[in-house]
Amino acid sequence: MEILDGKRVSNDIKDEIAEAVKKMKDNGEKVPHLAAVIVGNDGASLTYVGSKVRACKRVGFESTLIQLPNTTSEVELLKTIAELNENPDIDGFIVQLPLPDQIDTQKVIMAIDPNKDVDGFHPTNFGKMALDMSTFIPATPFGNLELLERYNIETQGKRTVVVGRSHSVGRPMSILMGRKGFPGNCTVTQAHSRTKNIEDVIAEADIVISALGIPQFIKADMVKEGAVVIDVGITRVPDETKEKGYYITGDVDYENVSKKASYITPVPGGVGPMTIAMLLKNTLLARERHGAELT
Ligand code: GUN
Repeated sequence: MEILDGKRVSNDIKDEIAEAVKKMKDNGEKVPHLAAVIVGNDGASLTYVGSKVRACKRVGFESTLIQLPNTTSEVELLKTIAELNENPDIDGFIVQLPLPDQIDTQKVIMAIDPNKDVDGFHPTNFGKMALDMSTFIPATPFGNLELLERYNIETQGKRTVVVGRSHSVGRPMSILMGRKGFPGNCTVTQAHSRTKNIEDVIAEADIVISALGIPQFIKADMVKEGAVVIDVGITRVPDETKEKGYYITGDVDYENVSKKASYITPVPGGVGPMTIAMLLKNTLLARERHGAELT
């Protein structure tokens, strides 16, 4: 079994991005600028956004964090988005999800300029992804593809089971694994909460990608010997004995599944850091496109 070390690979990618930024600076060009909008005080969301802003510093990007109160109205958030769309200094931005109940997430995503949508959530970008056109691929699925590519894991003709159908991970992941090319060319099954005999479906998979958010859902007896296992789940489980009051766990029973898997991502240190690295990569791409438009 080999660990898919997202921490190491994400550091390699950040080094590559930092190198590209250094070249931009040396040429007197503007460096990429990412903005992140967060509404409310959800602990996990604040942590993620904090990591994204720190990662910008690490690679030499500019960053702007816009923190809005939990009571922010939809109109107010849409106004902030319109300002970011108009601001020529901002190359890309994200609105951290989930949003409070008074705000319609779809309306918010639709309001983002697709050219600045580095999350790849806007229907224009999602559609382009499904049609094999150049676009921003959502960061978590993009990170999974990058891990498969950098570890040179054969995907052609393999049976991939994606567990979960969220718009940000499961749905795009299932599309990407079935696309032509590498990584891709898989026979994909999209499993979800209504799938009958889900254990049997997962047991057929050469590649399992779990994005459910249910701790320890994937057990060793569900996984084929030699399977590649990618765990997208990141759940905070309350635990008074821990300094932070919780511990982080994935969808996969790592201790037992790792004994059967050929490759496996740990949690933490697998998919999480890759997501951040790929958001940076999308922002670099946004800057390059934006710069090209202006010259
Ligand atoms: N919430 C959890 N993951 C993500 C992500 O990749 N992007 C945004 N905008 N919100 C998230």
